[in-house]
Amino acid sequence: MDKKVVFSGVQPSGLLTVGNYIGAIRNFHTLQEEYDCYYCVVDMHAITVTQVPKDLREKTFQVLSLYLASGLDPEKATVFIQSHVPAHAELNWVLNCFTYMGQLNRMTQYKDKAVKHQDNLNAGLFTYPVLMASDILLYQTSYVPVGEDQRQHLELTRDIAQRFNARYSPTFEVPEGLIAKEMGKIMSLKDPESKMSKSDPDENASIFVLDDEDTIVRKIRRSVTDSEANFCYRDEQPGLKNLIHIYQAFSDESVENIVKHYEGSSYNQFKEDLAQLIYQKLSPVQERYKELMGDKKHLEEIYRIGSEKASYQANKTLRKVYKKVGFLPR
Ligand code: TYM
Repeated sequence: MDKKVVFSGVQPSGLLTVGNYIGAIRNFHTLQEEYDCYYCVVDMHAITVTQVPKDLREKTFQVLSLYLASGLDPEKATVFIQSHVPAHAELNWVLNCFTYMGQLNRMTQYKDKAVKHQDNLNAGLFTYPVLMASDILLYQTSYVPVGEDQRQHLELTRDIAQRFNARYSPTFEVPEGLIAKEMGKIMSLKDPESKMSKSDPDENASIFVLDDEDTIVRKIRRSVTDSEANFCYRDEQPGLKNLIHIYQAFSDESVENIVKHYEGSSYNQFKEDLAQLIYQKLSPVQERYKELMGDKKHLEEIYRIGSEKASYQANKTLRKVYKKVGFLPR
């Protein structure tokens, strides 16, 4: 029997944070045995905000290397770059014609980005979720491992798939998200009410996957908690709650155990331990990352093979779609 398909993507739009790592990337390799996995570096999404070409190329290599450094095996999973598979852009056009303006207007990520990028409010930023739907639907995807912030985009993807299937005949698998409950939304270290984000101008608000030990220790020490001096896991202490989620992610311990262990001790002790835990878990990833980044030829081989495999599957779906909408065969 054919394996079910998993698809996910990460934008090469900045340094990756532990939010990206916990919410998405570290889960990717755990799925590669059981599912037919496609992991894409979504460079086409990245140009919806201004990018310096040279930096974009480097960041694309960085995301690819981090995929591999965190355990993805290119023999098992298909790892590729979005712009190398033209079917993404082609399906995007068709699906644009099956998405209503009203739906896109309701996307909260667009609303947030529109405020931040007033000087470059381009149409790509608005239709961004349609390209994301194309990514997912091209591979007949069943599961999409992402963070909580992508939930609304996934709902839209399901909606577009269902609309197309109902208008013609079953064409797309209707995908489901794999979104971790608490760890799907890691918050800023400076403002626990907002998401940790690679585009946050305050670099102390995020731990980056490539941060060194001293930087991790400093950022965790200075992270915002509260003045209650009572080690509890509750909504009223959102800074501490967020740190507990990060601890949980890196230790695989339950919240109850963590709270039991630190009850009565100072936040400082917990923060020191947390910083060490993060560093211990990230440093092997950083080592592998450095090795991979030192051999660009090898990375190129991996992404070329990946895009061939991806193109084969993507084109199968695209041909079906073109036929159904009434385009003449080539
Ligand atoms: P991006 O590049 O912003 O983020 C990559 C992944 O990291 C997750 N994430 C988080 N998880 C937990 N806590 C956080 N603070 C946090 N910040 C980010 C994101 O949810 C995402 O899973 N639109 C997508 C990229 C994309 C995609 C796709 C994803 C394009 N096409 C198809 C899945 C399937 C994005 O901007 O992710």
